[in-house]
Parts: sequence; C-alpha cells; structure tokens
Amino acid sequence: MRTQVGIVGAGPAGLVLSLLLAECGIDSVIVETRSRAAIEETIRAGVLEQGTVDLLVDHGVGGRALAEGAKHDGVELRYGGTGHRIDFAGLVGRSVWLYPQHEVLKDLIAARVAAGADIRFEAADVSLRDVTTDSPVIAFTGSDGTPVELGCDVIAGCDGSAGISRHTIPESERTDLFRAYPFGWFGILAEAPRSAPELIYAHSQRGFALISTRTPDVQRMYFQCDPEEDADAWSDDRIWQELQARVAGDGFRLAEGRIFQRGVVPMRSHVCTPMRYGRLFLAGDAAHTVPPTGAKGLNLAVSDVLVLANALDAFYADGSTERLARYEEVALRRVWRTQHFSWWMTSMLHTAPDASPFDVRRQLGELESVTSSVAGSTYLAEAYTGWPFES
Ligand code: FAD
Ligand code: DHB
Repeated sequence: MRTQVGIVGAGPAGLVLSLLLAECGIDSVIVETRSRAAIEETIRAGVLEQGTVDLLVDHGVGGRALAEGAKHDGVELRYGGTGHRIDFAGLVGRSVWLYPQHEVLKDLIAARVAAGADIRFEAADVSLRDVTTDSPVIAFTGSDGTPVELGCDVIAGCDGSAGISRHTIPESERTDLFRAYPFGWFGILAEAPRSAPELIYAHSQRGFALISTRTPDVQRMYFQCDPEEDADAWSDDRIWQELQARVAGDGFRLAEGRIFQRGVVPMRSHVCTPMRYGRLFLAGDAAHTVPPTGAKGLNLAVSDVLVLANALDAFYADGSTERLARYEEVALRRVWRTQHFSWWMTSMLHTAPDASPFDVRRQLGELESVTSSVAGSTYLAEAYTGWPFES
C-alpha cells in the first residue's frame, strides 16, 4: 500500500491535517489504534480558540460548533472570595468557544469519511521504519488481523503523548524537556444548570477549581487534587462540598446535580525536540503537552498541523523543501509561548503541597496585578483567546 502522507493517530492533529491536505489535493491515510466509537466518546477539552473555530468553519467542518457551541466573551478569575471578570471582547476583540473535543472529532471523522478518506481504526502493532529515507513505512496489523506495510513520502506523527512516533527518534538524538506538577485535576460531568454565564478559574486556600460548562443542562467542573487520587473513593456529596468550598465567598453557590462522569488527569509540561527527524514530523501532543489550565492543547495541535500542511503543500507544488525545513522553528515559537502561558496560569492558580503563607500571598498579589491592570488583563485575554496562527 502507498500514500503520500501517512498519518499516525486520528486525534485533532491527525484529522485536521488530513482535512487540510485533502484540500490541497494531497493523499493521506490515517492509522489509529482506537475504534471510532472510543474516540468519539472520550471526554477531554472544552475550549476552542477563536482561530481554531474560524479554521474549522473555513474548511467546512465548523457548522455544528457554531450552532451548538457557545461563544464566551470573557472569564472570571475568582480569589479571596470575589470574582473579577476578564473582558476578552472589550480588551482584544476576540472570544473563545465552548464546544467539546469529542464533538469536534465527530464532525471531523464524519467529514473525512464522507469524503472517502482512508482511516484505519483499531490498528495494532503500529511501528515506523526507514524514517530517515525518502520512503518511510508505517507497519501495522489491520483490524481484520492482516499485516499492512504503508509506504509514504512523509509520516506525520500525530499519536498523542503516549504514542510511538516520538520514540522512533533515537534517544541519543532526542531531547525531552519535562516538568511534572505535584497535583492533578479531578474532573466531573454533572446534570445541573449553569452556575455562572462564563467560566470561573478559582484560587482558594483549599486549591484551584474550574467551573466550566457543556450544555445548559450539563456542567463540567474540575478541582486540584493529589495526582494519585482515586476518583471512585469520593461520594457525590464530598465532591460538591469541596467544589463549593473552593468558590465560596460573596454568597456565590454552585448549582448541584447528579455526577455521571469522573476522573483524575495528571498535569505536566513537555516538549520533545527535534519535531522533525528525516521524513517524520511530530505534531500536537506527540511532540508537546501543556497542563490544561490555559485550555491550549487541542488548539496547539491545530496550529502545528496548519504549519505542516502549508509546508507539505509547497513541497508537493514544486518540490521545495524550504518550508518543511522551517516547520520546527515556526511551530516551536508558538509551542514555547503556550508552554509559558499554561505554566503561568497553573502556577498562579494552584496551591503547591509545600506552599508557604508567603507563596499564597504572592499569588494573590499576582492575581490582583492581572485583574487591576489593563496591560495584565490584556496579556491574559490575548493568550487565552489565541494569538494569530503563523503558517
Ligand atoms: P490526541 O488527542 O491524544 O490524539 C492522538 C491519537 O493517536 C489518539 O486517538 C490515540 O488513540 C492515537 N494513538 C496513540 N498511539 C497510537 C499508535 N501507536 N498508533 C496509532 N494511533 C495511536 N486542550 C484545549 O485546547 N482546550 C481545552 O479546553 C483542553 N482541556 C483539556 C482538559 C483535559 C481534562 C485534558 C486531559 C486535556 C485538555 N486539553 C485541552 C488538551 C487536548 O485534549 C489535547 O491537547 C489534544 O487531544 C491533543 O490532540 P492530538 O491530536 O495531538 O493528540
Ligand atoms: C475546560 C478544560 C480546560 O482545560 C480549561 O482550561 C477550561 C475548560 C473544559 O473541559 O471545559
């Protein structure tokens, strides 16, 4: 079997890349270990930058995000028991959209399948070969048990933080920069009405909490916890008490309801370089992860593959390799700005287990600086709604 671009992973990075390539007339095949149903059911991100929504709309897959998602013109930073609004629309004239990642994936998969794209779900034993030659290969076992060798011009490693693509680069030629955080996020979905019109990022003596939303009847909330916390050991009552305590003050209370989904996610920052090795290009979480506090991971995956798709378009148009050679430089610029923003939001809002009273007072000083200064609020608004894509 042969294709022009072999894509490993049908997450946001892999699917958006195959969509962009198809529009340039470039063939691709996606090889994915999970089933379509599993991908469409996994609960992850919620916030899309305006640029991500614009890109989905421009490429014909944003209709449902516009119709069923919700545009948010600001967020609340809550500390010392009171809320402080950051007015995105007023400060930078941009917004974000609340539209869940699994809905984005449903839209992308439906569009790609309708266009006749070749997506091999439930592949096993995926490995990459000959990536430093002009004809790299993705080897895998198909869902029917048949071994497949997929010859490609280029491979895009879009297989997320636990994928195999990154490990194809020999350790001696790879640098992985990591930062682990001494806390995780306990996330829930609850059947309840909205508690507030916009997202709330709360700093409290008991640690961070985030009040987000999915639909008028389903709410998404998170609170900082031990990364080893057993989510099933918590009763609904205990979860609500903890969340209420973290947003308490000025009479504000969360609307409670039945909790029907829960889980703990670890928090870490990671960047792998090089992002290119021979004919293998890493994109999205396969190359980098950010802690979820800035709501950036999916958006960063989209920005990587936009840069890569434009470089591949130039390559197939006239054989020029100049943009492919600049892929890593262009992508990493945004990656490191985003690493900083996600780390900054995380460190400003979470309470480290060994935090001293000085550390907590310093965080409150920082929050005061951000919310009381136009410059401080504008930086947050620019970064959160998303810098313009570079391509
Ligand atoms: P993934 O989504 O991980 O996709 C990789 C795909 O590759 C998967 O389908 C996987 O099954 C497949 N795969 C893995 N190994 C192999 C293999 N060996 N062979 C073939 N296929 C393989 N981001 C935001 O932008 N906004 C948010 O609000 C936000 N909130 C988040 C909240 C939480 C709780 C979490 C956990 C994440 C959040 N993120 C958010 C981050 C976002 O979910 C990820 O950054 C995003 O999914 C990255 O997309 P990706 O395509 O690079 O990788
Ligand atoms: C959501 C996730 C995030 O990481 C975030 O910063 C905001 C909202 C969410 O899942 O709704």
